[in-house]
Amino acid sequence: MGNRGLQPICPIESRLPPPDPEQIPLRTLQFKRALLHELRKGNATKEQIRLHNLVQQLPRAIIIGVRKGGTRALLEMLNLHPAVVKASQEIHFFDNDQNYGRGIDWYREKMPFSFPHQITIEKSPAYFITEEVPERIFKMNSSIKLLIIVREPTTRAVSDYTQVLEGKERKNKTYHKFEKLAVDSGTCEVNTKYKAVRTSIYTKHLERWLKYFPVEQFHIVDGDRLITDPLPELQLVERFLELPSRISRYNLYFNATRGFYCLRFNIVFNKCLAGSKGRIHPEVDPSVVTKLQRFFHPFNQKFYQITGRTFNWP
Ligand code: A3P
Repeated sequence: MGNRGLQPICPIESRLPPPDPEQIPLRTLQFKRALLHELRKGNATKEQIRLHNLVQQLPRAIIIGVRKGGTRALLEMLNLHPAVVKASQEIHFFDNDQNYGRGIDWYREKMPFSFPHQITIEKSPAYFITEEVPERIFKMNSSIKLLIIVREPTTRAVSDYTQVLEGKERKNKTYHKFEKLAVDSGTCEVNTKYKAVRTSIYTKHLERWLKYFPVEQFHIVDGDRLITDPLPELQLVERFLELPSRISRYNLYFNATRGFYCLRFNIVFNKCLAGSKGRIHPEVDPSVVTKLQRFFHPFNQKFYQITGRTFNWP
């Protein structure tokens, strides 16, 4: 027999499945993530940028809102995809006149380095509610993909209030109770001048966007489901972005201490969102909650009708 018993029956390569041409660049990209991470921290040399053919690309998709809908979680979770690169900071290019005046090259320079076939995504939730933004984004790229993550409108309004309240408390300032802000004490009606209420009238804002973009260019993400069961929501987004499905159960694990899903990039690197995400909301008078839910109801119906996505909101 001699060494003949150690001879492979067939060459090892022929036992591997044929390579999927679509997968190769993605796998390569996964290995190069570490490099992109260094670049993000500003540690890249010009030589590395040239060598790896890295570019700063304008976003091909933007998470335009809604504030407190889960915009950060959505961005971070999409960033698990090897073909996605996120702009870490909110750039506020289109909603801030001063930034907008700096021009599109300024905006591009705010973008992270990426490989040419990756897509860049940024999120600035103020875009959704700011009058001038749809036209400005349209002028940059009329075929851009727009993501909107929504939560049950009353919960979102309370979350919005909680964030502002925390900011006031940090500065040792007092603040009104939610009930006082959300209901007009003179008329006892819902106070539509209160920003946290107005932001939750999703259909009003969306209608402004629809003057520029067709409804097919929007994808609505269920922010309540992103909290309880994120993967199916992320898979819908992958499809909308025309990306191969790469985010898996492995990438998301429930952290009981945080009470939220956290992210697993690989065997060594995982992270949860900052503690400012997932605040405890103050108790709100149930009659005010009901009043708000009744107020939002017709707007919600319109929103379902326009977007084709229905939620079990009251
Ligand atoms: P709350 O603080 O009201 O719980 P945004 O990033 O748009 O400001 O949204 C913040 C919300 O994201 C939080 O609202 C939280 O509920 C939600 N969220 C969704 N998924 C999350 C996650 N995995 N970790 C932390 N917060 C998450």
